[in-house]
Amino acid sequence: MYRTHTNGELNASFIGEEVTLAGWVQKTRNKGFMVWVDLRDRYGITQLIFDEERTPKKMMLEAANLGREFVIQVKGIVIERESQNTKMKTGQIEILVSEFTILNKSLTPPFTIEDDTDGGEDLRMKYRYLDIRRNPVRENLIFRHKVTMAVRNYLSKEAFVEVETPYLIKSTPEGARDFVVPSRMNAGQFYALPQSPQTFKQLLMVGGMDKYFQIVKCFRDEDLRSDRQPEFTQIDCEMAFIDQEDILHTFEGLTRHLLKEINGVDLAAFPRMTYDDAMQKYGNDKPDIRFGMEFGELNEVAQHKDFGVFNTAELVVGIAVPGGNKYTRKEIDKLIDWIRRPQVGALGMVYCRCNDDGSFKSSVDKFYSQEDLGKWAETTGANQGDLICILSGDKNKVRAQLSALRMELAERLGLRKSDEFAPLWVIDFPLLEWDEDSKRYHAMHHPFTSPKPGQLELLATSPGEVKANAYDLVLNGNEIGGGSIRIHDKETQALMFDYLGFTKQEAEAQFGFLMDAFQYGAPPHGGLAFGLDRLVAILGGQETIRDFIAFPKNNSGRDVMIDAPAAIDGAQLEELNLQLTNKS
Ligand code: AMO
Repeated sequence: MYRTHTNGELNASFIGEEVTLAGWVQKTRNKGFMVWVDLRDRYGITQLIFDEERTPKKMMLEAANLGREFVIQVKGIVIERESQNTKMKTGQIEILVSEFTILNKSLTPPFTIEDDTDGGEDLRMKYRYLDIRRNPVRENLIFRHKVTMAVRNYLSKEAFVEVETPYLIKSTPEGARDFVVPSRMNAGQFYALPQSPQTFKQLLMVGGMDKYFQIVKCFRDEDLRSDRQPEFTQIDCEMAFIDQEDILHTFEGLTRHLLKEINGVDLAAFPRMTYDDAMQKYGNDKPDIRFGMEFGELNEVAQHKDFGVFNTAELVVGIAVPGGNKYTRKEIDKLIDWIRRPQVGALGMVYCRCNDDGSFKSSVDKFYSQEDLGKWAETTGANQGDLICILSGDKNKVRAQLSALRMELAERLGLRKSDEFAPLWVIDFPLLEWDEDSKRYHAMHHPFTSPKPGQLELLATSPGEVKANAYDLVLNGNEIGGGSIRIHDKETQALMFDYLGFTKQEAEAQFGFLMDAFQYGAPPHGGLAFGLDRLVAILGGQETIRDFIAFPKNNSGRDVMIDAPAAIDGAQLEELNLQLTNKS
């Protein structure tokens, strides 16, 4: 037996017992006549003691020379510590070692394996297995396990069945590029890794599974950000014989259960907001509603004066920054620089101070009276002591810019509290989205989403107006899930492909299998997928999903530990019928 106990287990009630422990050397302290070693494993740290009165000289010496991260096994007696550490689980005791074995040596680790490490991100990723020995990383992985188990238990109790679907498939359009895998046995042909199991879960509904879920890897070749990885995990779900209300009810239930079980937070029914309202009030389809600062549209009260910039704008819109009147001129100028950065792209910002005496002072005073400015305050909900920030221009652009400013200011004002949870459903998404590059409409969610009842006809005349039976679950300003009620008959699905610019042949070649299946008694169905990585990160009070993934990729999509992607040798290429063309 390697150990009788773990390193997080022993306390005063074990005093006098002989125990065997194993673990890693966190650090040693050598006072000459006494050596202490902190022994670490997943469960905690136990202090070992060697002293010249009770420990053989040779062992003393060996203990003093133990390097960091050596793996050792020790036998000894649990004794009471002289100076107790009340902050540690095992702080009342130490082990007077009688035998010890070095199980494995270690090179000096490239960074300190402690909560606050001196290792930068790149170094920690290269030696991720050492990073995982650190408490914060390990705790995040255990936290993820807890969330995953809670999800499985909940859904299983609700009669959902976990079914695995294949990874080597044909492209499913979810809006990103596919990762492809060449087929050795089928020269010149490729599998695609699933962007999601979308078509398979629909086929499971045709197969009568009724309630399906899967905690599943998805693969998307897209630009990476802190909330995006090229391979990520979904809690993918689908149900038959349901309407939108059933889906929202079921998955609100799951989310509330998780918040209660994991975070101890009881939440009331989730608010719902249409996509149009979300865009108008927050300039964003995933609004963070932990705080206010709702948009006030000012066209009516700010146009038709002599200020040309506003008069020619499609939208004039502002937000009230609580307490913002205390910003100095310099600070406001910095804010203007911030929104002018290419990432935000605003041309400028008009502002209006709301003074404590009820008067106003704006950056465009010569065009507006105090009464005008009072209307701005009313429309944006500004109080005395606030600052109104106003942007103008093209509606969609300005909304996105003001939304970025709203989030930035909320961050600076400490309004995005990680222990507060504000979920909401965003519903009634547009079915289609105009793509400027290809000059055509794309499915905003995916092409299997059904239009709202009675709206199919609108597709021919005003496609941009058609609303979908689609919904997103938003938590603290992050899209943590999304789904829709699906089309379940061949004719409508064929029509949809037609509207999306697929020829009959293309639609048949890519999705004939699904449309065929629809002809054999497909039940009405719909579903949703949560982004597990995002969900876990937010429940854990953070937003960077990398911190909750054991072996994540960096922002260039590389695994710097195993050094992937990598070239493959000529023989392998040949076997796969692939040839690298030299472009230069
Ligand atoms: P969607 O594309 O909205 O829907 O994806 C569902 C959820 O997955 C998460 N997500 C990601 N997480 C990390 N990295 C990524 N690159 C990434 N991309 C998406 C998000 C998102 O809300 N098949 C549909 C679901 C359905 O209709 O049932 C789908 O995949 O949290």
